[in-house]
Order: sequence, then C-alpha cells, then structure tokens
Amino acid sequence: MAKTEETKMDKIISLAKRKGFVFQGSEIYGGLAGTWDFGPYGVALRNNIKGLWWKKFVTDREDMYGVDAAILMNQEVWKSSGHVGGFSDPLVECKKCKHRFRADQLEDAKKCPDCEGQLGEARQFNMMFKTNIGAAEDATSISYLRPETAQGMFVNFKNVVDSFHPRLPFGLAQIGKAFRNEIAPRDFVFRSREFEQMEIEYFVDPRDPKKVQATFEELYGEQINFLKELGLSSDKIHKIEVPDADRAHYSKRSVDTEFDFPFGQKELLGIAYRTDFDLKAHTDSSKVDLSYFDEETKERFIPHCIEPTFGLDRLLLAVLSDAYTEDEIDGEKRVYLKFSPKVAPVKVAVFPLLKNKPQLVEKAREIYMMLRKEIPGVMFDDNGNIGKRYRRQDEIGTPFCITIDFDTVEKGSGVTVRERDGGKQERIEIDKLISYIKEKVS
Ligand code: GAP
Repeated sequence: MAKTEETKMDKIISLAKRKGFVFQGSEIYGGLAGTWDFGPYGVALRNNIKGLWWKKFVTDREDMYGVDAAILMNQEVWKSSGHVGGFSDPLVECKKCKHRFRADQLEDAKKCPDCEGQLGEARQFNMMFKTNIGAAEDATSISYLRPETAQGMFVNFKNVVDSFHPRLPFGLAQIGKAFRNEIAPRDFVFRSREFEQMEIEYFVDPRDPKKVQATFEELYGEQINFLKELGLSSDKIHKIEVPDADRAHYSKRSVDTEFDFPFGQKELLGIAYRTDFDLKAHTDSSKVDLSYFDEETKERFIPHCIEPTFGLDRLLLAVLSDAYTEDEIDGEKRVYLKFSPKVAPVKVAVFPLLKNKPQLVEKAREIYMMLRKEIPGVMFDDNGNIGKRYRRQDEIGTPFCITIDFDTVEKGSGVTVRERDGGKQERIEIDKLISYIKEKVS
C-alpha cells in the first residue's frame, strides 16, 4: 500500500469523525470491532444513496416489488440456502499470541503477521451470528442474524406472486441490515460485521437462455449507471468476471464491480446468476411449491434468478473517498468533499453577511425557512466570518452557499450564490432562488 494513499485514508476517517459522518461503534467503551455508528451527515448521505437507489430500481420501474423482511428468520431458511453448511471463511490462529487471521488474506500462511509466531492449521469458521429465540436455549430455538437480505426475498416470492400476480420477468427489492462475523474486519466501513445491503432478486424465464443473458447484461449496465448517478469517477470503476473457482456456491455466473478505494482496487458490488438454486432449495425443504405458472403456455416451472447486489457502506466509502479533495482557493489551502449535489447531505447553506446586524439575520432566516420547505438539507450558519463559513461547508461537501447582504435588504437586489468547487459567485433574484437551487440539486 502506497504511503500517500495511507495518509489519504487516515484523513478521510478523521474528517468523517470530526464532521459527524461516521463514528466508531460503542466508542466511549473502547469501541466494538467491525461496527460503526453514523452521525447526522452520515445518515443523510446514506438516506440520499438509498433514496436514489429505491427510485431508480423500484419506483421508476413497473417490474419491481419492494419488500422488508424480518432480520431473524427460521433456521431452516439458512440450512436450505446452504449458509449453515457453507458460509465460512478459513481461520488460522497464532500459537504464540493467539491472534486470529483469515488464512486466504495472509502473505505467509505459516508466520503470524503480528508476532512472527507459528500459525496453526486453517479451519472453516462459519460467519453467521447465532442466537436463540425465546427463553429456551436448545437446538430448536436457534436463529441467525441474516448474512444477506436475499433470502428474505426468496421466502416471500410466493406471497408477492399470490398477491400481485406479476408476469415474468419481475423483481423483488429490499434494503436492510446484514451481519457477518468477519474474522478480520478492516478498512473502515469497507469490511464490517454489521452493514447494509440493497439487493434485487430478479426472476426470469429460464426457457429462453439468450434473454436471460441479455437481462443479466442489462441489469449489470444499470448497476454501473447507478454508480455514475452517484457521481463516482468512471475511471475508478472496474468490471471483473469472477472465475469459476471463486464463485459463490449458488452462482452460475458472477460479475463483480471493483472500485479504486484509497487502499486499493476492491469489490464494491456484484451481480450473480443464481439460477433456480434458491427457489428450488426452499421448495424442497419447506415442501411449499415455489414454482410459477405461465398462463400463455400453460407450463409450470421454477423461475431463474439474477441478483444485482449493492453494499451501502461500501458505496458510502466510495462516494466519500472519491469526493475527498485538497486544493487551494483564494491563496489558502482547503479540504473539501466534491459530492454530487444529489448525494450531498447539505444542499445549501444560508448566511447573513454579518451576525450582529438584525436586519441581515432576519432576512437570512426568512430565506432559510423558505428554502427548507422546498429543499431537503438546508442549513443556517452565522458563526465566524464568511470565509470560515465557506470552509466549513466545503468540508462537508455543501454544493451551494447563499449570502444575504445589505443590497439584499436595502435594494432588494437578490442574494449571492457561491458554488463550492470553483468558488464562482452569482447574484440570483430571491423569487428565482428555489427553482435555481432545485434544478441543480435534483
Ligand atoms: N446476496 C449476495 C451477497 O450477499 P456478497 O458478495 O456476499 O453477496 C454483497 O455481498 C455485497 O455486500 C458486497 O458486494 C459488498 O458491497 C457488501 N458486503 C459484503 N460483506 C460486507 C462486509 N463485511 N462489510 C461491508 N459490506 C459488505
């Protein structure tokens, strides 16, 4: 890992904490490894990403159905899906310091990277968090925190079909938390033990394999379009055709999308051709028929499934690290987040030129209230001088700052709108302000 890149990651983590995006989980008790808490700007950024995703993949389409399944599910779900038997990573323990590592991530499979002691034999470690439901702690009460949202959709396939009678192809979509007891959580929110997924199970007719492949390509293309809509740099996005040996047990074809994070090119999201693996497995185990009846051909079959999957936390990190910029403006060094206005937690900040002039403060608050009603993410700030306020907004990635000055109040000559990246300023009439900002942030 390059030294300069390391420094960049440290700076991003520090800014994320200082500015209220991301905090260490349970920090006042020394933290809990692999967990992260999100502060006000982190929540806003996540909600913006989730909102754009839901709009693009669910509300803007006629063929998608949203679901929100319980995190705790009957243990049979995870037996049938193959997770109880096979959702594991290879674990090794150092004989000397007892530290544990993922065997497939070590440079030297024999030597401990922490103390150079001898490593033991690798064994498979199941990554699901196990718990018990109710007062009894026996084999029948076992449940798991879901390691993927996907199964919540497969077990609701029949419910949606029975209520909505969709024709193939159609998809189920879900946003929700997933949990994995990662052996080595690392790289900030990139690999954590509690994270959020945005997944689609898209059901297709297997009798037309060419169309299945075309749908796979189309959904892959939509994944990439979504990344561009978030404002991510195209040259940092890479397509990886996953080799047979590395594919998940359920997948016939997988394409990962990798991204240039500050710590290297790593998986951001993926798409898999899950075939009829899941519906078939749940039909076999539950004895509930999860097939589909084609009214036209009068044939009954189990649909195949293509699964585009997105990790929200990795998207947040991609957006944050791609936006992190250092430059010089008006002869001063600055750090700013070059967020696309669509994802920026704060879209516009409103300032009175001077804090101690009631007529400016009053007018500024009036404009602030007017904008708040129409635009989500409007902030008021009258602390310090204008230059400091600009720097503060730049650091959280606010694309526009509005200043109310004496000309606004005395001559009714509009307000100054300053744009984040180049610092360009424009005078805009108050009655045109809402449409001017709305057009740029939506
Ligand atoms: N349903 C398929 C599935 O879960 P996956 O590749 O294991 O596939 C999907 O996970 C996505 O979830 C990944 O591409 C990544 O964005 C995210 N993800 C997986 N493990 C994660 C972790 N430990 N921390 C943060 N995000 C994770």
